[in-house]
Amino acid sequence: MKLTTTNQPLAEQPKKYCRLVVTEERAGTHRLVETSNGHLEYRLGVGKYKDVTPRQFRTLLRTIVQAGKGHQVEHLAIELSRSPFPQLEPLGDAWVVRTMAENLLLAAYEFTTYKSKGKGKALKEVRICGGMNAAEQRAFKTGETVATAMNHARDIVNTPACDMTPTQLAAAAKTAVKGTKATVKVLGLPEIKKLKMGALMAVGQGSLHQPKFIVIEYFGAGKGKGKPVVLAGKGITYDTGGLNVKPTGAMHEMHMDMGGGGAVIGAMEAIAKLRLKKNVVALIPTAENAVSDRSMHAGDIITTMSGQTVEVMHTDAEGRLVLADALTYAERYEPKVVLDVATLTGAALVALGQHTSAVMSKDEKLQQQLIALGEESGDLLWPLPLWDEYKQHIKSSRADIANISPNFSKFGGAIEGGTFLSFFATKKAQWAHIDIAPRMTSIPSDKLAKGATGEPVRLLVRFIEQF
Ligand code: BES
Ligand code: MN
Ligand code: ZN
Repeated sequence: MKLTTTNQPLAEQPKKYCRLVVTEERAGTHRLVETSNGHLEYRLGVGKYKDVTPRQFRTLLRTIVQAGKGHQVEHLAIELSRSPFPQLEPLGDAWVVRTMAENLLLAAYEFTTYKSKGKGKALKEVRICGGMNAAEQRAFKTGETVATAMNHARDIVNTPACDMTPTQLAAAAKTAVKGTKATVKVLGLPEIKKLKMGALMAVGQGSLHQPKFIVIEYFGAGKGKGKPVVLAGKGITYDTGGLNVKPTGAMHEMHMDMGGGGAVIGAMEAIAKLRLKKNVVALIPTAENAVSDRSMHAGDIITTMSGQTVEVMHTDAEGRLVLADALTYAERYEPKVVLDVATLTGAALVALGQHTSAVMSKDEKLQQQLIALGEESGDLLWPLPLWDEYKQHIKSSRADIANISPNFSKFGGAIEGGTFLSFFATKKAQWAHIDIAPRMTSIPSDKLAKGATGEPVRLLVRFIEQF
């Protein structure tokens, strides 16, 4: 689907366009009518304009696209830029048009790579009528770039594990930033060994597909000009659970366990394509957590790149292991900020449901800023505590720390994951951990295609923009 713009008002669009009209009828009301002069008009109720919140505005945009898809409309025209919604005023016109571009494109996305049968009529175009000034046009373009990168991330995350091994994830990272100033370096097993990334090695050792460590560098401000932000993304291309194998019903979606890595790749694509004048480095430790005679065992003790030893109490708590080595590797960039993004725990879903990711940080200011940018972008975050009190739960009798609580406590699992990572985050940088397990897949109220959400690409891009 492509987005087009025109200075002409909606009423002057030719017949091939179905005109979408937003009305103050009760939210959810929708009617497809033919006007007296033979134009197709789709009327969508949103309730009183004054009651429409920024969150509802995003959903409205997505509903518009879903309505077009549902009625097999090929060309849809809308006029929303002169927004009648007073609650959007404080966010400004640039926010409105960027949000439009982002959410129309995100809603248009479908994952059809593996559908062999005819795809039927598809929505080809959404035309935004009424004109935009230069600043609005720039914001609109930015939104298009961000959403396109986010949709690429969704493609990467949705691809089944049989076609998305660590090697293939590295190739996808290269494709994503091709033609930009960003460079991609892929460390293979010999280099991973040499760096003493014992945790990444242990997680990957059970699989035929060797682990990789993907590094994407983008020095938009200039090398040596300012400390960078490091974005670390969990890149488990399949999580069987390892020898502590997952039960049926908990495993089939685990090809999306590289959602953090996918999001970080998508963010780098957008950042590089927008040519932001910032220094950003993405680190993606990638491996398959497989079951075999060579898999790491529960009870193994591994030495991480940091030198700290870890007792593997549970082979299914593998994401925190690979991220531990990534957080240590991050130190060589002397970063100002480190953000890690991971489908880390089912416990985050238990705590928060599926509407928001979890954020954990000891840096109150950074955490608040991320939450605010989440609200602005739509990639919502909500905090969980990272207090020192939680550290005692992962004490190990045999090693420096354990990867889960040695008495298999099921309480506070998301915080336990964040606490484990805090042992590896450099003390010299501000650090936040984002557990995106709750947002790994879309839910019906998102008005998105089933599967990966692409979150939090929008949030990461905004964070870098304002950094
Ligand atoms: N990748 C999973 C977490 C996950 C679960 C993500 C569901 C998305 C949806 C992670 O590696 C995992 O298996 N975590 C365990 C941790 C446990 C062993 C402490 C979990 O959540 O059960
Ligand atoms: Mn796991
Ligand atoms: Zn996992």
